[in-house]
Amino acid sequence: MNISEIKTIEHDVIVLGAGGAGLRAAIECSMQGLSTGLVCKSLLGKAHTVMAEGGVAAALGNVDSRDNWKVHFRDTMRGGKFLNNWRMAELHAKEAPERVRELEEWGAVFDRTKSGLINQRNFGGHRYPRLAHVGDRTGLEIIRTLQDYGIHQGIDVYMECTGLDLLKDGDRISGMVGMWRETGEFVIFKSKAVILATGGGGKAWKITSNSWEYTGDGYGMAYEAGAELMDIEFTQFHPTGMIWPPSVRGILVTEGVRGEGGILVNSEGQRFMFDNIPERFSAETADTEKEAARWLEGDKDARRPPELLTRDVVARAIRKEVKAGLGSPHGGAFLDIASRRNAEDIQKKLPSMYHQFKVLAELDITEEPMEVGPTLHYFMGGVRVDPDSQMTCVPGLFAAGECAAGVHGANRLGGNSLSDLLVCGKLAGEGAANFVQSGQSEPDLDETQVKAIIRSATDILNRESGENPYLIHERLQDTMQNHVGIVRDDELLSRGISDIEILWDDFHKVKADGSSQFNPGWHEAISLRNLLITSEAVARAARMRKESRGAHTRIDFEGERDEWLKVNIVVRKSEDGSMSVETVERENPDSELERIANLSIEEIEEEVSREAAGKI
Ligand code: FUM
Repeated sequence: MNISEIKTIEHDVIVLGAGGAGLRAAIECSMQGLSTGLVCKSLLGKAHTVMAEGGVAAALGNVDSRDNWKVHFRDTMRGGKFLNNWRMAELHAKEAPERVRELEEWGAVFDRTKSGLINQRNFGGHRYPRLAHVGDRTGLEIIRTLQDYGIHQGIDVYMECTGLDLLKDGDRISGMVGMWRETGEFVIFKSKAVILATGGGGKAWKITSNSWEYTGDGYGMAYEAGAELMDIEFTQFHPTGMIWPPSVRGILVTEGVRGEGGILVNSEGQRFMFDNIPERFSAETADTEKEAARWLEGDKDARRPPELLTRDVVARAIRKEVKAGLGSPHGGAFLDIASRRNAEDIQKKLPSMYHQFKVLAELDITEEPMEVGPTLHYFMGGVRVDPDSQMTCVPGLFAAGECAAGVHGANRLGGNSLSDLLVCGKLAGEGAANFVQSGQSEPDLDETQVKAIIRSATDILNRESGENPYLIHERLQDTMQNHVGIVRDDELLSRGISDIEILWDDFHKVKADGSSQFNPGWHEAISLRNLLITSEAVARAARMRKESRGAHTRIDFEGERDEWLKVNIVVRKSEDGSMSVETVERENPDSELERIANLSIEEIEEEVSREAAGKI
């Protein structure tokens, strides 16, 4: 193999992944004068960002003027059970409003209040109506806007190209090897910086809102290049995915349904969330129908319905009903908006949900309740980055959006994914620009690395016989669903890890039939490596964390434990090639941020009004 025959494309920076984080990062790089290549596995615009349907969280204060960054920060920290990176949560809450306004300037058409401001709706864990939205298609509108804007920034877009592995010159990044999915040809991207914005790894589970692209590519590539994964055990099960018919299992039912007043009931018609209010949220959550109804009628001082508790709480409550024999016919709960809002409102506020159920389940949500159950939706953990620059411990390697860890701690609030990808996408772009413009010399390409990457891809085609990639993936999904799910214990996780070890052996013998052109079996086999790294990291970190916190529930270690709040779990590749999992002490929080997070809502309101009156 002569690498001079492989096409080499040069840019200052390569952004891998063209969802919201990748697009926002690429726009920033380009604005800062970098030659920018945006590489995506799928077609531009096809991204999990569109699955954040109900809105983008930003303390604009348009619907309730008491909202401000401090309350958003406090909500995010409480939702994340205080494991969030304090600085990232601060930047996120402070900068989200500006990023949303900027999107509007770039052409996003948000729904409006009667007075013409960007409208905001309620969502789980957010104290005030905070989610700027476009019906239930917010993620789609954000992608459309970023795409349109980005195209005019002179970004070069490379579609249907799988990133195989990163290249390094000594310690620092020198680019990436990719493969055109259509032709099977390889391509070298030479760059001084790479930004990973590849989303999560939901495809390791059987029931997921993620589509085929989400195979943990960023986690796998970062890990192989020497970067660290952090708190990756925190995987979010969104409480409401479709569960029937089987062909649509896992597809998201937006939290916006509950934000618009939808309630959850069991097979006996009981509104069971009243019985599932954790102590931490009891002062702010309605515990009677009457109180919850006052809130729906717009009483700003009423407490919020329990359906709007954080996702970890709601997902566990649904599971509990099912375990108690009170589930819906297909093993979930009923989500009822029909009895709460008139048909016209439902169709106006939730057009996609109306259409989705009509077409996929032959059900009219303006008349009947939906059947829903938890679906793997999001990774809170991911690649460990510096909060301000989003750079990993590998010089020149950055990560943003779902691919990176930090903003959300142990559990993410709905709508915070979209604000995260806008805020951190921009930060990553700035970070990469600062890095590239800090006098970095041209990196050298290492031929041996390129050859090794290509060889491990072509070996899959060149074996005489071997294991079927689709079957390996199916077995992995069974394992993760059954052993690394919503509720975990040492025995389940240890079984999961043993299964993954066997799957690794099979992966080393994986065989795809056919040639390199248009070969989905080969693509599937290639993605298995990243799926396995991701799954092993989640399972090992989950076994190490001996407490229950946010989305990580251990039935053998109930409740949060103080000692686990002092550490992050960090996964990296050891010199001998094995996976190292260890705890790393967290830095002490900035005292001002700690003070804000621990204020009561009344204290924050008082402080903010004193600030507004110029008294602080
Ligand atoms: O339910 C939803 O619309 C999802 C939003 C999110 O994940 O942020």
